[in-house]
Amino acid sequence: MRILLLCHAFNSLTQRVFLELRARGHDVSVEFDINDEVTTEAVALFEPDLIVAPFLKRAIPRNVWERHICLIVHPGPVGDRGPAALDWAVLDGEKEWGVTVLQAEDEMDAGPVWAHRSFTMRQATKSSLYRNEVTEAATSAVLEAVEKFSSGTFRPRPLQDFSGISPCCRGCVRQADRAIAWRRDHTETILRKIASADGVPGCKDELFGSQVFLYDAHRADDLPAAEPGSVIARSGPAIARATLDGAVWIGRARLAGNKKAIKLPVTMLFADAAAALPETIGYREICYEEEAGVGFLHFPFCNGAMGTRACEQLLAAYRQALARPTKVLVLMGGKDFWSNGLDLNLIEASPSPADESWRNINAIDDLCEAIVCTTGKLVISAICGNAGAGGVFLARAADEVWMRNGAILNPHYKDMGNLYGSELWTYLLPRHAGPANAQKITQARLPMGADEARSLGLANDVIDVSRANFFAIVKEQALALADDKNLEDRLKEKAAIRARDEAAKPLSLYRAEELRRMKRNFFGFDPSYHIARSNFVFKIPKSRTPVTIARHRDKRCATKPVEEAEA
Ligand code: COA
Repeated sequence: MRILLLCHAFNSLTQRVFLELRARGHDVSVEFDINDEVTTEAVALFEPDLIVAPFLKRAIPRNVWERHICLIVHPGPVGDRGPAALDWAVLDGEKEWGVTVLQAEDEMDAGPVWAHRSFTMRQATKSSLYRNEVTEAATSAVLEAVEKFSSGTFRPRPLQDFSGISPCCRGCVRQADRAIAWRRDHTETILRKIASADGVPGCKDELFGSQVFLYDAHRADDLPAAEPGSVIARSGPAIARATLDGAVWIGRARLAGNKKAIKLPVTMLFADAAAALPETIGYREICYEEEAGVGFLHFPFCNGAMGTRACEQLLAAYRQALARPTKVLVLMGGKDFWSNGLDLNLIEASPSPADESWRNINAIDDLCEAIVCTTGKLVISAICGNAGAGGVFLARAADEVWMRNGAILNPHYKDMGNLYGSELWTYLLPRHAGPANAQKITQARLPMGADEARSLGLANDVIDVSRANFFAIVKEQALALADDKNLEDRLKEKAAIRARDEAAKPLSLYRAEELRRMKRNFFGFDPSYHIARSNFVFKIPKSRTPVTIARHRDKRCATKPVEEAEA
């Protein structure tokens, strides 16, 4: 079937739906919902059998839904309506929530239902729930709806035919709805208020006398009681604020009232005030654990972004882990993101973004090099959440990559203003994927699911479990590997391959060649990278859909099947 995905942005949910539909043989094209004319034009160009809208902020134009079946994904249970469904669900502390796929009609979110799913809510941020529970439920419901559509006989159920539902239409969440009352709210309420606004728009509050939006909040244990709301400690990027019954860590904030303000580590945004606070180790971005001869290095950096300092700290932790008497070391990344490469927010906020980009890429390259050059241990990257750009190649620096089914990789840099990329990808990709696949991966500029990643050599193993069970299975597999009697032989073979590769072409040469191109991206005449980075950080909506995903706008695809056009 020809399926047009109409979306506000090609976000994680849209990418997952795109991949799952393509894997089932559908001809899928994407159009960003920029305005009614562009949408109408896309429909005329692609002539879809079906339109699916996984992530839309505006109504579909009448002339489109009157002529085509348009299926809207609403992140709420049957009967729920409105633009802030998940915000309300988190804020209200709902125990169960859902996703509904309904048909677009005159009234928003009120059309007949094609499919729906429910799930148990986890104590997590809105964006983490969206990337995980909502994405799983929505993908499964969309696939069911598409099957029903292709049967040609299914009639969707009008909302009024559902018994036991309580129709509810709520508007946007106002800042007043989630304003923190430090003297009245308990820790759990404060965490819920901040989580309901994470990552956009943030929870408005006052900090060190400034109006700010707060993000990335966690319960803080073992801190002394203090006046609720007072700032009592710092740890890494975060500061702790006392609550009625404990304290919370707050890792990120953005100044309010300034369109050019960037979401940054709180200790950086308020450097002087934070420096005066007592330092503790409560907020951890890196943590190491060990079991039966296997080391596990976790690095759940906020949004998977790895700035210069983060890379340096991770390299130090990696070296410490290497010094342990283990034979297998597993790089766990974070549960939501394994890594998304350079920290573009920190780069944007620095006085010289070009210089900071240079420092950051060198710091991440140092880490890659240390991983590639590890000979005494088998190193595994275990990818539970998504990974993008340099984060994918950092993962590939390990001997094996184990990937959770459902995670998505974006193994390309070019969408960031034609960035050439480093992280030793020119060595790692041909070595693990082969030259042909390496070319395919870098040229396609498309997201990739676990099966495709394995078939192209970006992953070695696909682990088909839920996010909650991923670590347990990784542990089981890693412990078995450490027990394997062939491990010593594998380590010898690994050292021999590294020595052979080094003799053929030193790693330092790959790195120098990549960095020469990166230098041009950062310091050269072409400002594309700086513009793309700035647009990304300030969330400037795209003015057109890239032809890599808008196949109906790619003249090469007009007469060719998908695989041929992408070759
Ligand atoms: N630096 C800083 N912030 C980053 C980031 C990075 N490298 N990658 C992602 N983020 C942030 C986003 O700004 C967003 O922030 P929010 O909390 O304010 O909403 C959050 O992480 C989630 O990212 P989002 O883009 O919404 O997630 P997605 O799953 O839809 O898309 C990617 C994932 C990887 C495709 C996309 O985030 C991306 O292109 N990132 C940039 C990767 C890159 O070019 N890195 C630099 C070169 S190595």
